[in-house]
Amino acid sequence: MVMAESGVGRLLEDALRVFRENYPMYEPKVGVAAPGRVNLIGEHTDYNQGFVLPVALPMVTVVVGCQSADGIISLLTTAKEADEPKQLEFPVPTESKPLSPGIPCWANYVKGVIHHYRAGPLPGFKAVMASNVPLGGGLSSSASLEVAMYTFLQQICPDDGDLMEKALACQKAEHTFASMPCGIMDQFISVMGQKDHALLIDCRSLEVTPVPLNDPNLVVLITNSNVRHTLTGSEYPTRRMQCMEAAKVLGKESLRDVSMADLKAAEAHLDKEIYCRARHVISEIKRTTDAAGALKSRDYQEFGKLMVQSHNSLRGDYEVSCPELDELVAAAVDGQGVYGSRMTGGGFGGCTVTLLDSAAVEKTIQRIKDKYSGTATFYITKPSSGAHVLKL
Ligand code: GLA
Repeated sequence: MVMAESGVGRLLEDALRVFRENYPMYEPKVGVAAPGRVNLIGEHTDYNQGFVLPVALPMVTVVVGCQSADGIISLLTTAKEADEPKQLEFPVPTESKPLSPGIPCWANYVKGVIHHYRAGPLPGFKAVMASNVPLGGGLSSSASLEVAMYTFLQQICPDDGDLMEKALACQKAEHTFASMPCGIMDQFISVMGQKDHALLIDCRSLEVTPVPLNDPNLVVLITNSNVRHTLTGSEYPTRRMQCMEAAKVLGKESLRDVSMADLKAAEAHLDKEIYCRARHVISEIKRTTDAAGALKSRDYQEFGKLMVQSHNSLRGDYEVSCPELDELVAAAVDGQGVYGSRMTGGGFGGCTVTLLDSAAVEKTIQRIKDKYSGTATFYITKPSSGAHVLKL
């Protein structure tokens, strides 16, 4: 089991060492960190202008580096899972010679952020990236890389400091350079995360309500299924389009504006699958605000019930779960002291999130290990702060 303590110190040390080995002529001047996230509830609601309730993780991506006078941007990742080459150099982009996505894939997130950065002209720079957010595990390793890179650029070429615009620029980077039409949740929580709090985010107004989550008797357990089905890439945009279609048939801008009664009344005009997709989104938006209320009043039983309902809806109506995630949820809730469990993130693999009594942690982990057909990894996590500058 991994206690998801920050580990930032070690990451920073590693990144600094790699920097000095590879750029001996330079001295690292800047260090930043940006977290991954786990979403407690509110799945596939962000791109429907609904609510989400994520927390920022202690697991982060760190970027260290400095400006250079040679007009060259040099990037190096220490991630073992990243595709080759791990180092990349290119001239500072200009309007006539903008960046475009390509190989290696890991650099596309960084290039996208450079492209959408909100100040300039950028100087050349050398940067090393290191992360302990599991890559491709549904804990937003990509958003943490984008937000970390944006935070790094803010140190060498300051923008106006607007945090919302920062999250939106990182989201655009993902849309245009990684071809992933994601919502705003991941980048937003990586920028705005608050220690000891989950954030209820209204993805229409971008208004944030922090909800305390620091009860010493309560544990947030993340279980990584260690599987990732390749469906994610194609299924996510399909779900997004289906939601738009449902809203269009109902004459609304988004499913946020559709009530369950509206949906039921229009059932005959909607394709069965589209109807089910919309039913998930509309019910999930309500579950998310209800869950935030339950958490605020420390009604963990109610919160857990909503988590399980959310999972069932994602599995049945939205069809983004998979047998491994279903197994993990079933194993988690089948014992004393567990309030609820569900898949978290986009789906088709990745992680589940379980809310449980601290006294039940050991037994629950053992039970999941015994019942799961694969090999799971566990992280006990605490809500942590959003992107920040590190002292070197
Ligand atoms: C991915 C996306 C998010 C969100 C979730 C599902 O993580 O990046 O914007 O849509 O899936 O809730």
